[in-house]
Amino acid sequence: MKGIILAGGSGTRMYPISKVYSKQLTLIYDKPLIYYPLSILMLGGIREVMIISNSETIPLYKKLFEDGSHIGMNISYAVQAAPNGIAESFIIGDKFTGNDSVTLILGDNIFYGKLDFFYNALKNNDGATIFGYRVTDPERYGIVEFDETGKAISLEEKPKMPKSNYAIPGLYVYNNEVVSISKNLKPSERGELEITDVNKEYLNKGKLQVVKIGRGVAWLDTGNPQSLLQASNFFGVIEDRQGLKVACPEEIAYHNKFIDRADFERVIKNMPDSLYRNYLERVLNDEF
Ligand code: G1P
Repeated sequence: MKGIILAGGSGTRMYPISKVYSKQLTLIYDKPLIYYPLSILMLGGIREVMIISNSETIPLYKKLFEDGSHIGMNISYAVQAAPNGIAESFIIGDKFTGNDSVTLILGDNIFYGKLDFFYNALKNNDGATIFGYRVTDPERYGIVEFDETGKAISLEEKPKMPKSNYAIPGLYVYNNEVVSISKNLKPSERGELEITDVNKEYLNKGKLQVVKIGRGVAWLDTGNPQSLLQASNFFGVIEDRQGLKVACPEEIAYHNKFIDRADFERVIKNMPDSLYRNYLERVLNDEF
């Protein structure tokens, strides 16, 4: 299974900072936003990841993660020249995906809680597996409608009159067919290759699973300044209460045995003195 993080988009909702800075590098409490989706892929055991972003931001991600080998990952990078839509990821990542299955996560999507819904999807996917999450503002998202038996019957991208309150989060598990499906898509009215059109294709073929994410899991949106602040506060409260970090790739790499103790020590040694380093030293000393 390969992983793609799409950290693209024009980010104009974040203007003026969007003129010079990528949203996915914004701090969510104590670490860049992109650490959260990267951690989800790592927790799912996905170690080959491609980060797709615009040409100005790719060098910054490279500086941040290099080739990923220090955390037992293989991280590569590709440019999306213009915001041509989420589904373009699979065309850009065509060679990277090869004959494998692929999980796509959007660089501004955060999940917190019991991730069994994702682990099961990785294990059982036969076609496409996407998720449904109840929200109060469905018109902002891709929406799924279920019949009375809980089967998905329709999908719509940001409908004015949503048929349900179930939004589709930016986490998608696909078999290899997604590459050819994406290549055959036509741009939507807004000129983008829509991920919802990819999912509709799977739905039409009877190959789409939509799994409801229930209570107890947080899917946080980070689409505007208010939601960024909410996410920061959310993780600030949890991390300060427990003294444990959420979405700490170095810790996940160590605990999931992507790297051994000596590697972990080396990673820590290469960090400047900081709260982040102090935390990892406590992880090394088995304080948790
Ligand atoms: C995108 C997708 C939408 C999905 C959302 C999740 O919207 O098009 O289907 O529900 O991500 O974050 P965007 O955030 O690009 O407007």
